[in-house]
Amino acid sequence: MPASRYFLEVPAGTEVVARAELQRLGAKRLSEFPGGFRLVQDADLAKALRARTLAAAYLSMTFAVPRPKALLGDANFRALVAAVKGVAARGVYGGLRFSAAGADSPTMTRLASSLASEVGLPWRQDDGELLVRLRPDPATAGWEVLVRLTPRPSSTRAWRVCNRPGGLNAAVAAAMNEFAGVDARDAYLNLMCGSGTLLIERALRAPARRLVGFDVDPDAVRCAETNAGAAGVAKRCELSVGDLTDPRFVEELGATGRFDVLTADAPWGDAVGAHAANRALYPKLFSAAAALAAPDARFCLLSHELRLLRSVVLDQPWWRVEHEAQVAHGGHHPLVLLMSRAQE
Ligand SMILES: C[S@@+](CC[C@H](N)C(=O)[O-])C[C@H]1O[C@@H](n2cnc3c(N)ncnc32)[C@H](O)[C@@H]1O
Repeated sequence: MPASRYFLEVPAGTEVVARAELQRLGAKRLSEFPGGFRLVQDADLAKALRARTLAAAYLSMTFAVPRPKALLGDANFRALVAAVKGVAARGVYGGLRFSAAGADSPTMTRLASSLASEVGLPWRQDDGELLVRLRPDPATAGWEVLVRLTPRPSSTRAWRVCNRPGGLNAAVAAAMNEFAGVDARDAYLNLMCGSGTLLIERALRAPARRLVGFDVDPDAVRCAETNAGAAGVAKRCELSVGDLTDPRFVEELGATGRFDVLTADAPWGDAVGAHAANRALYPKLFSAAAALAAPDARFCLLSHELRLLRSVVLDQPWWRVEHEAQVAHGGHHPLVLLMSRAQE
C-alpha cells in the first residue's frame, strides 16, 4: 500500500509566513517539502484548509516504485483509483486533468486515460477540475501522486466577482499581509488597490482600526467595491479614487489619519502600466507612502520591476528594508519588500 498524507502548497517565497499562519490555525505538525508542507497529522487538515496563504491542498500518496509505469500495475493502480475516486466523490467535477513532466509520453498518457476512465470522468487536459499530479519523491526515490482536494485552487476566492488585468493572487496577497503583520489596532492602507485583493484579504483576516484603499482608475475602485461587497466587508472598507502623484490628494488623505500598515502591488509595466512611466511613478509611490505613514509604520510592496525597485529603494530616505522575498506568481517571481519607516 502507498504511504498517504496531505500536501499543502503555498506560493514559493512565502513559506515563513505560511508556516506561521498554519501553526496559528492549529496545523502544528508540518514537515517542509519542496513547494509547501506535508501535513503529518490528518486530523489537522480542516484547520489547514482555513489558511489564507494556502495555494492548494492535495491528498498525497507516495508509491515505492522506480518509474511511473509501475503505477499501472494491478495493486498500485487499484490504490490510485480508490484514492482519486474518494476525492472526486467530495466535489462536483466535469473532467480529470493530469499533470507530470513528460505528460504526453505513452506511459503518462495511458496512466491519465486509464485513471479518468476508471474514475468515470472525461480526461480533459485543458480544463479538468480534478487535478492529479505526478512527481518524483526526493525523500524516498519513489513517485508521489497528488490529488487536489478542491475543484479550484484554494487561492481562488468566492469574493472575486470582478476581475481586472494584473489582479494579485489572493494567497500572495494574504502572505504580504502576514509579512506586514496583523494587529486589530492597525490603520491599514492599500495604495493602488486595483480590484482590492490586498485590502479585502486583510479585512477578512482580522479586525482593523481602519481599512482604506484607493486607485487612480475609477473602474478599479468600482471593481474593488464590488468585490468587497461580495466578501461582506464593504461597510468596513473606505475606497476612493485618488492619484498618489497628486500632492493634494495625498495631503487630504493624510489629514484623515496616518497608517500603521501600507501595502501596494505596483504596476509591473506589462499587463498594467509601462516601464517608462514606472520610472517616474515608483519614487512617488515611496514618498506618498512615507507622507501617509505613522512613525512606526510597515510598508509591504510587491513588483516585478526588480531592477527599478532595487534602485529606487537605495535612492530614498524614508523606508528601510527589513525582509525581502521573491514569490511565485503565475509563472513570474516578483519581489516582495517589507520595509519599516526610517527616522529621517
Ligand atoms: C498591479 S495593479 C494592482 C492590482 C491589485 N493589487 C489587484 O489585485 O487587483 C496596479 C494598480 O495601480 C494603479 N495605479 C497606477 N498609477 C497610480 C497612481 N498614480 N495612483 C494610484 N493608483 C495608481 C492602477 O490603476 C492599477 O490598478
